[in-house]
Amino acid sequence: MSDIKTVAIVGCGIGRSHMTEGYLPNTDRFKVVAVCDINEERLNGFADEFEIPLATMNFDDLLAMDDLDIIDICTPPMVHRGQVLAALAAGKNVVCEKPLCGSLAEIDEIIAAEKSAKGKLMPIFQYRYGDGIQRAKAIIESGIAGKPYVATAETLWKRTADYYAVPWRGKWKTELGGVLMTHSIHIHDILTYLMGPIAGLFGRVTTRVNPIEVEDCISASCVLKSGALASLTATLGSQEETSRVRFAFENVTIESDHDPYSPGAKPWRIIPASPEIEAKIATLLADWQPVAPRFTSQMARFHDALLGKGPVPVTTADSRQSLEIVTAFYHSSETHTEVLLPLAPDHPKYRSWIPAGFA
Ligand SMILES: NC(=O)c1ccc[n+]([C@@H]2O[C@H](COP(=O)([O-])OP(=O)(O)OC[C@H]3O[C@@H](n4cnc5c(N)ncnc54)[C@H](O)[C@@H]3O)[C@@H](O)[C@H]2O)c1
Repeated sequence: MSDIKTVAIVGCGIGRSHMTEGYLPNTDRFKVVAVCDINEERLNGFADEFEIPLATMNFDDLLAMDDLDIIDICTPPMVHRGQVLAALAAGKNVVCEKPLCGSLAEIDEIIAAEKSAKGKLMPIFQYRYGDGIQRAKAIIESGIAGKPYVATAETLWKRTADYYAVPWRGKWKTELGGVLMTHSIHIHDILTYLMGPIAGLFGRVTTRVNPIEVEDCISASCVLKSGALASLTATLGSQEETSRVRFAFENVTIESDHDPYSPGAKPWRIIPASPEIEAKIATLLADWQPVAPRFTSQMARFHDALLGKGPVPVTTADSRQSLEIVTAFYHSSETHTEVLLPLAPDHPKYRSWIPAGFA
């Protein structure tokens, strides 16, 4: 049996990057055999450009395909939950864009469905991949970095009226949140991926940049489970776009590259506390193999997981953690209190964080 997995891409917006960065550089692992979109022009343009044999406007057609291994969901946020549950129920492996769904109750529903499903589910967090971030991860995981002290995470991006011309954006019902859900979710994931989970969060959210329902500026002060402190800032009103995380550990300070959409790719600043620490890092990384950025590595590692050669690289537990941060932010901002994580079903915003009147 061939190890090449067949894929259907659903949604031709960011689905295009999944194709060009995720599947085309990995043709020894994947073959995209179908594409689905409810916009006929976009669908046919995509199918023609990439010579995909099946183009359909009906998602259910994919569920019925016997020769399809993976359904890759790149539709707008409010569509994800239904398509993920349907694809799992049909026995498919599933990739789904962020945010996986719109509440902690929904993610727990998906986690329960995943447990009894034949297929595996991988949420997208492609910012984790690239040489810079993976080297940092190796240094931290080796123990060389030592005790975590503080971190800052900045998502300073720019969105203007043309971005919000796409009807699902900017609205609670369809985008399910603002800069927290759609943009800084990646940078906050990097923070917890490298320094561990958040245990307490005082946050504020506000809308100041565009005339939209959802928030476009946020700030928080956090304590991590380790006891380290972190501050998070994001806006969609920055004239220069940058993403940046900076970590102070006992033995090393680590700063990401500032590329807004691929901060993990280029080398990160690794500042050791002493020549001895520098030497330990050099030894650790002596045989380092480069890690390709973004979807290229995330999809390749998913393929390994499907063959039983490693864990699913991003999990629903990771996705739950990211939605806890979002939930905590909205609750803290509304109540002006610190929110302690993790959040259980008795939390007031467990079923929804969408403000009354917008659900
Ligand atoms: N990981 C990232 O860096 C990244 C970047 C951009 C967007 N995203 C996420 O990807 C998702 C899509 O965003 P986008 O910017 O590509 O949006 P988009 O509106 O450009 O594209 C979504 C496509 O899905 C199609 N669609 C809508 N409902 C559908 C349905 N029921 N069945 C099939 N197709 C359907 C639309 O016609 C559209 O072509 C969002 O969740 C967004 O947050 C992630």
